[in-house]
Amino acid sequence: MQEMYRIAVLPGDGIGVEIVPEAVKALKAIAEKFGHEFVFTEALVGGAAYDAVGHPLPDETLELCQNSDAVLLGAIGGPKWDDLPVHLRPEVGALLPLRKELGLFANLRPCMLFPGLIHASTLKEEVIEGVDILVVRELTGGLYFGEKTREKTADGGQKATDVLSYSTYEIERVVRFAYEAARKRRKKLCSVDKANVLESSRLWRETVTELAKEYPDVETVHMYVDNCAMQLIRNPKQFDVIVTENMFGDILTDEASMLTGSIGMLPSASIGGEVGLYEPAHGSAPDIAGQKKANPLATILSAAMMLRYSFHLEEEARTIENAVRQVLIEGYRTPDLMEPGKILVNTVEMGDKVAEKI
Ligand code: NAI
Ligand code: MG
Repeated sequence: MQEMYRIAVLPGDGIGVEIVPEAVKALKAIAEKFGHEFVFTEALVGGAAYDAVGHPLPDETLELCQNSDAVLLGAIGGPKWDDLPVHLRPEVGALLPLRKELGLFANLRPCMLFPGLIHASTLKEEVIEGVDILVVRELTGGLYFGEKTREKTADGGQKATDVLSYSTYEIERVVRFAYEAARKRRKKLCSVDKANVLESSRLWRETVTELAKEYPDVETVHMYVDNCAMQLIRNPKQFDVIVTENMFGDILTDEASMLTGSIGMLPSASIGGEVGLYEPAHGSAPDIAGQKKANPLATILSAAMMLRYSFHLEEEARTIENAVRQVLIEGYRTPDLMEPGKILVNTVEMGDKVAEKI
């Protein structure tokens, strides 16, 4: 077994700099317990990198990621950089190219309710109890990567376009991945599209229908994205694996995060290339940044996914997940999950509790 793993650490902006150290803390506790060597190298990305060197994704940062075994990312962006030209905006200038350069076409977002959080959600107990959904979001194509234009029109206004395009190849590789995941779970795949309106979605649906023949053991359902948004709240337990387009997946997973109690509980793994990237599903939360209020558990759970998917250290991954479970059962809560009778902790205290449990 490999003993040394190189991890690129990119805290980024806003709460990114608060939550990433807590995930590193958990990884260090794992290294100590299991006798691994994790080598952490920190680099600038996003607005922080723009401020320091004039570009949100410096070459050195990309090279560090390419030469690491895995990347741990916090969050990128914030109001300070919103008015930059689009190619320099942290999200478009750093996050998207980072995912593209590393070839990370599949973004896994497991959405499950931890015991103890049944009353943290705004949704009814009987609706969310037992929810366990894996959303596979296509990550390097679709609307976010299509051509963007902006031009002046004769009437003195402007015209802007974003193009949504997919090839059979791009659809096939992510859907195949989702089928393989469904095979290891409850064998149900829901493919989400907007095939009643969009041509790219028609190709998506045709491609899934073809692939379904190779997976007769998996039940395939097609659903329109607007219906899916409703079904996730009406009856989320109908879903096992959901596979969908980049932007649809982005939006549906913010929605699905409320099934888990908070967006601060939703981790993610981006895979498909040689180096995996692990980040919480949420953003830089400028409204609470710098106040030690951020929930670090989504990032800590993303570190667990790193151990599972990049390093194949399943027992170590489960050790982190069990530590999170224990800390929640004992009643520790960051403000986003707080309810009467529980123990309020800040970002650092939550990270300490998880590391102690490990
Ligand atoms: P957001 O996810 O940052 O925040 C939405 C709401 O959820 C806020 O009220 C925030 O306080 C709360 N929240 C998020 N994470 C939390 C946590 N760990 N603990 C407790 N509460 C949490 O989304 P928003 O406000 O739309 O975007 C803020 C910035 O982040 C923007 O610049 C956006 O572009 C960027 N962004 C970056 C992402 C990334 O780096 N992957 C993903 C999404 C947004
Ligand atoms: Mg998002």
